[in-house]
Amino acid sequence: MKKTCILFALILFTLVFTSCKNSSDDYIDPRGTDYAGSESCIQCHQTQYDLALKSSHFKATAPATLENVLGDFDKGNHTFIYDKDTKLVMEKRGDSLFQILYKNGKEVQAHKFEIVFGTKHAQTSVYWRENNTYELPVSYYNSINNWATSPGFPADKPYFDRMVVKDCYSCHASNASSRDVNQNSAEKNMMSMDVEDIIKKETIVYGIDCERCHGPAKKHVEFHLKNPNVKIANSITSFKNLSKQQRLDACALCHAGNDGMKLKSRFDFKPGDNLSEFYRATRSITDTAQFDVHGNQFRLMAQSKCFINSEKMDCITCHNPHENASKNMASYSKICMSCHQDLKHNEQTQKIMPEKLMASNCVECHMPKKASGAIKFQLSSSKQLSEYILRTHKIGIYPMDKK
Ligand code: HEC
Ligand code: HEC
Ligand code: HEC
Ligand code: HEC
Ligand code: HEC
Ligand code: HEC
Ligand code: HEC
Repeated sequence: MKKTCILFALILFTLVFTSCKNSSDDYIDPRGTDYAGSESCIQCHQTQYDLALKSSHFKATAPATLENVLGDFDKGNHTFIYDKDTKLVMEKRGDSLFQILYKNGKEVQAHKFEIVFGTKHAQTSVYWRENNTYELPVSYYNSINNWATSPGFPADKPYFDRMVVKDCYSCHASNASSRDVNQNSAEKNMMSMDVEDIIKKETIVYGIDCERCHGPAKKHVEFHLKNPNVKIANSITSFKNLSKQQRLDACALCHAGNDGMKLKSRFDFKPGDNLSEFYRATRSITDTAQFDVHGNQFRLMAQSKCFINSEKMDCITCHNPHENASKNMASYSKICMSCHQDLKHNEQTQKIMPEKLMASNCVECHMPKKASGAIKFQLSSSKQLSEYILRTHKIGIYPMDKK
């Protein structure tokens, strides 16, 4: 108790002290005083900031404002019909958006969009009930430009009780906790493990931000503000100095599925940490299992000969970590060719596609799009499950259908 008081006093003192010196610096990050917040990076890293701000990582979660929510609310298709008496309507009321359940034309439940998850292929949203968030039963899918059941939700009756637990936030946000900034770190750890299912709204740091990937950077910011002539990075982990495994782990944290046995909260991971201390994998990477194309890029990539037989392949080989996956497939071919200069396809393959065209289409044939086994959804009044398509990261030779 005494310790906590001293710590609290110390934190308060530093806060007051720093805010006296620099009045613009009154931002307090919910993760603690060793975090500076993404806004503080702009002044020195405008390029990275401008890119990252537009990325899916930054939008992996966001407050459900009118700009952030996808889909139709007043025009077009905004009704999901469960049966002849029961329907769910997406409605805009004032500045808020709702999913409203009607029975025989009468409103029986209204749930507000509070937080959105995702933008690229799909967007699901949650509402608050007490200290927890619950998934709304209908989500928006870009592939069909329409609303359909949230993954795993029934299409014949509305369901409002699927809790979206802290685990979801640990891959889609930079913080979500039940702890206070002032707690000491031993307490923090206990809290983050124990009270998994309580989320303090004011502690959420939306999206995957700079410090989620780079670690706490307050010291780095302070150092460089004080020493503007120093051009060598201080007090920040450099990815260049990390081992290949550490670099892979920094992405695999969220891109290697979710079936391992959890040892520590994913939120506590910093670049340079070993993922094996956070998870005990239930399956080895060389497992011949069929990993799902959703959320498991790392394990799929790790099954490819490109990865196994080359020294240097990691996620950054093909992706700028501050940008979305490129839509320009030809740009990836150049990367493929950097390792496959003297490639020669056989005659049969060349018949399918002339060599010239092939040169810019490696990905189409060797990383084809596949349906996820984990995510499926149903349109209003459709008995059929629709597929959720992503590109596989298992680079390989796939059977050719004549294109
Ligand atoms: C006052 C200026 C300043 C601010 C503010 C600042 N940095 Fe830096 N940062 C630098 C300088 C200088 C370097 C070294 C030169 C370079 O790589 O651009 C650097 C380098 C880096 C590097 C590369 C490290 C390496 O060696 O690979 C990362 C990552 C980084 N900063 C992250 C951040 C993040 C995250 C923030 C915001 C929380 C931030 N910086 C805020 C000045 C700043
Ligand atoms: C804290 C979790 C987390 C970490 C760490 C992380 N990602 Fe992601 N990443 C996500 C989530 C969640 C999405 C999906 C975001 C969305 O669309 O809502 C995503 C999306 C992506 C995308 C697709 C973006 C698009 O729209 O095309 C790429 C590419 C990607 N991540 C690469 C990486 C790489 C490379 C690293 C390591 C440097 C990394 N990620 C680290 C969680 C993470
Ligand atoms: C998804 C994880 C991720 C996020 C989010 C992220 N970075 Fe990075 N960043 C990386 C990785 C990985 C590298 C190393 C890239 C390399 O070595 O090619 C890097 C490199 C850098 C560098 C070194 C110069 C460069 O561009 O390679 C700076 C500076 C930097 N990041 C700043 C930022 C800032 C500022 C933000 C937020 C606006 C941010 N990063 C967000 C993963 C991330
Ligand atoms: C282990 C990390 C992880 C966990 C846990 C996780 N996700 Fe994701 N999620 C991802 C990644 C990575 C992507 C993007 C790439 C993909 O689909 O493979 C993604 C994609 C999504 C998308 C589609 C985003 C888009 O822009 O298209 C939604 C929606 C989503 N997740 C919601 C959730 C919800 C809700 C939960 C909890 C029930 C959850 N996720 C748990 C990592 C995770
Ligand atoms: C870092 C180097 C590297 C990169 C980048 C790379 N590969 Fe490879 N790839 C390899 C190596 C090494 C092998 C194994 C060759 C062997 O075993 O003879 C391989 C094997 C392959 C194979 C044969 C797979 C099999 O199962 O037989 C295909 C197909 C392939 N690569 C396609 C691609 C494509 C397409 C890309 C770009 C999306 C790519 N590679 C990027 C290094 C790389
Ligand atoms: C050999 C090149 C290559 C490597 C290595 C690679 N990717 Fe990709 N990645 C791609 C291509 C190509 C796409 C597809 C872009 C598209 O279709 O729009 C992609 C797309 C993605 C997407 C978006 C999926 C979707 O369909 O929207 C995510 C997430 C992603 N990569 C994460 C990762 C992660 C994490 C790693 C490391 C484990 C990684 N990638 C390594 C080439 C690569
Ligand atoms: C039209 C589909 C198609 C396209 C486009 C394509 N490939 Fe292939 N590739 C195949 C097929 C089929 C095979 C197996 C039969 C063969 O070797 O021709 C193959 C085999 C390979 C192999 C293994 C054979 C060997 O010699 O080691 C590599 C490596 C490879 N492709 C890389 C690439 C790269 C890099 C690109 C882009 C420059 C590319 N492929 C474009 C269909 C394609």
